[in-house]
Amino acid sequence: MAVISFDADHRTWVLTGESSTYALRLDEDDVPVHVYWGPKLTPSEIGELTPKTRPWWDGFNDPNEGLGELAADGGTRYWPPALQVRFGDGTRALEWRYETHEITGEHLVIGFTDRHYPLRIALHYRLRSDVVERWTELTADTDVEVVRADSATWVLPTFEDYRLSHVTGRWAAETQLRRTTAPHGETVFASRRGITSHHANPWVMVDDGTATERHGEVYGVALAWSGSWRLTTTRSSTGRLTVSGGFGQDGVVHHVGPGKPLTTPVLAGLYTGGGFGAASRAWHAYALAHVLAHPAELRPVLYNSWEATGFDVSEAGQRALAERAAALGVELFVMDDGWFGARTGDHAGLGDWHVNRERFPDGLKPLVAAVHGLGMQFGLWVEPEMVNPDSDLYRAHPDWVLHHPHRRRSELRHQLVLNFARPDVAAWAHGWLDRLVGEHGVDFLKWDMNRPFSEAGWPGEADPDRLWVDHTRAVYALLDRLRADHPGLRIEACSGGGGRIDFGVLARADQVWPSDNTDTLDRLRIQHGYGQVYPASAMSAWVTDDPNFVTARATPLRFRFHVAMAGVLGLGGRIVDWPDEDLALAREAIALYRDIRPVVQHGALYRLRAPADDGVTALQYVHGDRVVVFAYRQAAHFNAPERPLRLDGLDPAHRYVDSGTGTTHSAAVLLAHGLPLGLPTGDFASKVVRLHRKI
Ligand code: GLA
Repeated sequence: MAVISFDADHRTWVLTGESSTYALRLDEDDVPVHVYWGPKLTPSEIGELTPKTRPWWDGFNDPNEGLGELAADGGTRYWPPALQVRFGDGTRALEWRYETHEITGEHLVIGFTDRHYPLRIALHYRLRSDVVERWTELTADTDVEVVRADSATWVLPTFEDYRLSHVTGRWAAETQLRRTTAPHGETVFASRRGITSHHANPWVMVDDGTATERHGEVYGVALAWSGSWRLTTTRSSTGRLTVSGGFGQDGVVHHVGPGKPLTTPVLAGLYTGGGFGAASRAWHAYALAHVLAHPAELRPVLYNSWEATGFDVSEAGQRALAERAAALGVELFVMDDGWFGARTGDHAGLGDWHVNRERFPDGLKPLVAAVHGLGMQFGLWVEPEMVNPDSDLYRAHPDWVLHHPHRRRSELRHQLVLNFARPDVAAWAHGWLDRLVGEHGVDFLKWDMNRPFSEAGWPGEADPDRLWVDHTRAVYALLDRLRADHPGLRIEACSGGGGRIDFGVLARADQVWPSDNTDTLDRLRIQHGYGQVYPASAMSAWVTDDPNFVTARATPLRFRFHVAMAGVLGLGGRIVDWPDEDLALAREAIALYRDIRPVVQHGALYRLRAPADDGVTALQYVHGDRVVVFAYRQAAHFNAPERPLRLDGLDPAHRYVDSGTGTTHSAAVLLAHGLPLGLPTGDFASKVVRLHRKI
């Protein structure tokens, strides 16, 4: 049970989670400063922690250097500001004055004002088991410019050294896990693209350099935001590390004033003593318990037409794919790009969201009815935030896109970004989406976003910078409204693959498309990076044609299935051309997936062996009395001995039966010695093992 308490004598708040404690206090100047974050301590034990005092001879440092709960600019605070304001008379420095606090269950709000100016700052803390959600709310009675408004600053314990884990990447090569010693000075992870980005993802994990997958203390910080963002790690002059972060774009100024509050997104923090594996499982559990809207559901097996047809879409072609998909056991059929306007390629039609009557002479309804008649749900690809200049929408509303009056409008993939911060644009998008979903009985939308912002101007608007935040907020509001009005509607978020994956979008999307790259070996790495923080139940993964659409690598169909079955299984190939033996294998694999799906989607993930160029990559999911193990070996070496695969997360007292072979194993043996894998011979060998606990 998570508890928040306040010690008035020490002006200290103590937040106690399942197995961790977080504490902060006010210093003598009312500045909120960090006290403790780590293994569970009681409030009275926290009382024993003495505030840091600086040596009297050091006149060059702030006494609280690097300890600010929201490292605001001003006074003798010299670290990267988490909060930076400019008052009407040009004053920049903030002086904190504590006003009040309120504890409502697991939510603590601490209210401050500036000592002179009418700016109020509320620091929010909400306990979610061992995750602390933090955000900041600014309100003011007169106009205040806010140059930087981070959600929170996290202060790490004093370690000998620090190591950062994070992901970087690019299109079709997202979420590549990196681990590196934290440099002294300031390190910035950011997106300036208006989307979360393929290039970095808004989370970081910190350890002292000794944590492993199964052991050691790991701290994690993750931002719930799908626009531009920044996480800064700073090692102060003492070498101690902080992580500060929030939304925003360099040089972009927010205006706070009467009727114009500024509320930052949640920056969540997590402590675990159980290594990187436990950190990931805690994030996954958090996503299921507190972020995803429908965590108890099982995500259906989907078919998506993109890799089969590209833009060459027709009603007959879609029907043929749907019939084949249904026969294989698919539960949701999704028609991708190419069904609307003049969208016969990527150069035209975006923005004209009416059915292409040459391709669908009687509209979409006959196809939707056919798909429903086959016992599947119907899904549709949309890209609402975008427009091709070659479209009726753009010809009618050239001012609806982000632009500056005397600057070119840079096109990427022949498209421009609609300014969703404009109420007329957001209302237009709501109008057609609401009609599309309502009139056609659409069960699922794949919501794409295929380019970053550029020339992000808004001519005529007094506060144009607000589009950086308000665009994302408008997308969130639109998704929220569509979902409220169409309770059966489920969403897949996509941004050219994994360009928009974060806890902000996961509160509105039931699943995400992690990458346009479905190549098995690349996917194992992408999925490994994705799964550090985000859950398998939201990770869409398709089996596509051979050789691969993106990498041209050939991989056996069984291996492709086994890689995709570690998430939310889908199909994405030209299944109408698959030979009979592939269709038989696909039917069998989909049936197997439907059996193991509760374990994969709702279970706890144990990464037994990380993706390796040589050797075996292995994952294990545990859910109640069921266990599923995936093992993949890309290259076989003659006469190489196979190592038993040591499992994790089992009670050693239990025994498990392998549903495939009927063999009974003691969990103690599986943990201490390992499971004999018996992978088939040859390259690209893979296996799924199902174990049931014996009663
Ligand atoms: C993006 C998506 C793909 C596909 C295409 C359609 O690239 O990531 O999956 O939907 O757009 O144009």
